[in-house]
Amino acid sequence: MRSKRVLLDCRLSRERNRLGLPSFSDYLDLIESGTNPEAAARFIDLVTTHYTYFLRERRQFDFLRTTAFPELEASRPRRTWNILCAGCSTGEECYTVSMIVEDYRRGRNLPPVRVTGIDVSEPALEEARRAVYPATRVDKVPPRWLTSYFTREGDGFAVVDSIRRHVSFARANLSDPEALRRRYDLILCRNVIIYFDEPTRERVLDTLHRHLALSSYLILGHAEIVRDRKRFAYRGDSIYQKRSEETHS
Ligand SMILES: C[S@@+](CC[C@H](N)C(=O)[O-])C[C@H]1O[C@@H](n2cnc3c(N)ncnc32)[C@H](O)[C@@H]1O
Repeated sequence: MRSKRVLLDCRLSRERNRLGLPSFSDYLDLIESGTNPEAAARFIDLVTTHYTYFLRERRQFDFLRTTAFPELEASRPRRTWNILCAGCSTGEECYTVSMIVEDYRRGRNLPPVRVTGIDVSEPALEEARRAVYPATRVDKVPPRWLTSYFTREGDGFAVVDSIRRHVSFARANLSDPEALRRRYDLILCRNVIIYFDEPTRERVLDTLHRHLALSSYLILGHAEIVRDRKRFAYRGDSIYQKRSEETHS
């Protein structure tokens, strides 16, 4: 906890110096005043953690292949599958989903699949849209994927168009109850709500529940749990299935 505090202090001090502000309260006044959107966006970026990697929690992706996708194939054979990655960071999670879909599609007649990544951090989203990753960020990617789904671009690895074209990104703040527009057939919200206080976490889970289709899955990070089992049934590995349309009053 202390090391996190030191890290945050260090990041914010550097930014305060960059802006030429004499004290932290001047810095916070500037952020709260709303007069400098660029500084506000950088503040959000500095206080959030963007750690992510391709195929993170691989067993959850196995679950998509063995359970979630076959169920969608049976229940929604023709309508577009809408998948949300909430708190998608620099894009690896969305592209992993798109690669798993592409593998699954082989030999099958699937409907279009749309993967939407949202995040509160614009710099993280810029990186996600660029879709070029240094070698150190693709070291957990299986060799077959590296040859099929990436091309070399300078020192980096670029995600190929056939994977990118199913994925789009938008800036949204999950703690805003109006952040989402549509209903999703699958939601991944992994390693995001762990950083929220209890009321925010409940509000975000409410929003995700509302925007998830009945019987569809919500996939959380391994340290994150849903207590309300009336609305979500637990399926193991931090995966929950929506079982009712009820919402909290
Ligand atoms: C640790 S990363 C997790 C990335 C990915 N989901 C994974 O599990 O690998 C958390 C991401 O959530 C984003 N985030 C934090 N608070 C958010 C909010 N209120 N709305 C949207 N995104 C948020 C951060 O900007 C960050 O990119």
